[in-house]
Amino acid sequence: MNNQFEQPKISFTKHTGEEKQEGKRTAEVKVLSEISITHGGLGEIFDTEVYFGKHPSGKDIIRRFIVKKYFNTTFSSAEEGARNALEKYVLAKNCGLKVFRTFRIGEDGTSILMTAGSLDDKICIGSNSSINMVFLKQPLIKEIENMDAFLLDFFREQLKAAQQGIELFTDNFFFTISKKEPRTVDFVLGDLDNLKKVEHLKQIAFQNASCAENVLSNELSSKNLDPKLRSKFEDRVAFFHKKIREEIRKDDTLK
Ligand SMILES: Nc1ncnc2c1ncn2[C@@H]1O[C@H](COP(=O)(O)OP(=O)(O)OP(=O)(O)O)[C@@H](O)[C@H]1O
Ligand SMILES: [Mg+2]
Repeated sequence: MNNQFEQPKISFTKHTGEEKQEGKRTAEVKVLSEISITHGGLGEIFDTEVYFGKHPSGKDIIRRFIVKKYFNTTFSSAEEGARNALEKYVLAKNCGLKVFRTFRIGEDGTSILMTAGSLDDKICIGSNSSINMVFLKQPLIKEIENMDAFLLDFFREQLKAAQQGIELFTDNFFFTISKKEPRTVDFVLGDLDNLKKVEHLKQIAFQNASCAENVLSNELSSKNLDPKLRSKFEDRVAFFHKKIREEIRKDDTLK
């Protein structure tokens, strides 16, 4: 593992900026190692090991995090990319949406440190990414133990977002999948770059729900599920999509 940070010690600040206040615990950490996982449209993703200092017992505190380093594109600078991601994170978190627990901006202004969705026995797959079970050399998913609970939760998140005036986009979601069969699947809004604040409209809720259906059938299912599971999964997706559409129709909080 090598370290591509020019300064191995870097501080990552929460959106509240509270680590910068005197007397608060410093957020300066040391990035011990980093491995590039993938290049996206806006940034490069690194799996990192971060040193936080010493525990009172004298033991070193080292944790794995993901660092997304934004780069300049024709549309935005690296600084704008990282700043936008942090703002969208705050917006989604304040709306009660499911986001990573940690999401901080680096003092370089161009990198984001966030919870690793792929720790221990879990795999993390973006809803629009080239990272999938085949790419990760993992066997395709044969069974999802919590299929209905996961689908209901996932479609409800779309309605919840619309009730808060949030339009979701196909690349926002990450799926976390247990490595062992029977698998459990969960999701998090992990790539927030394209999330948008809009009006509280029914049309947005329907659009969010269609986006979810598309991501489940065209990304999660086709690239990660064993062919024998696909039709059963897609039937359940259709069932929960229909159910959420009924809930949206009846929802008086949306115009
Ligand atoms: N916090 C994380 N934990 C685990 N894996 C992650 C994390 N962040 C990113 N990844 C992995 O890296 C991939 C790309 O991340 P992300 O979508 O944020 O980058 P991007 O620049 O928007 O790329 P793209 O243009 O492909 O959407 C994700 O699909 C996921 O597999
Ligand atoms: Mg992405």
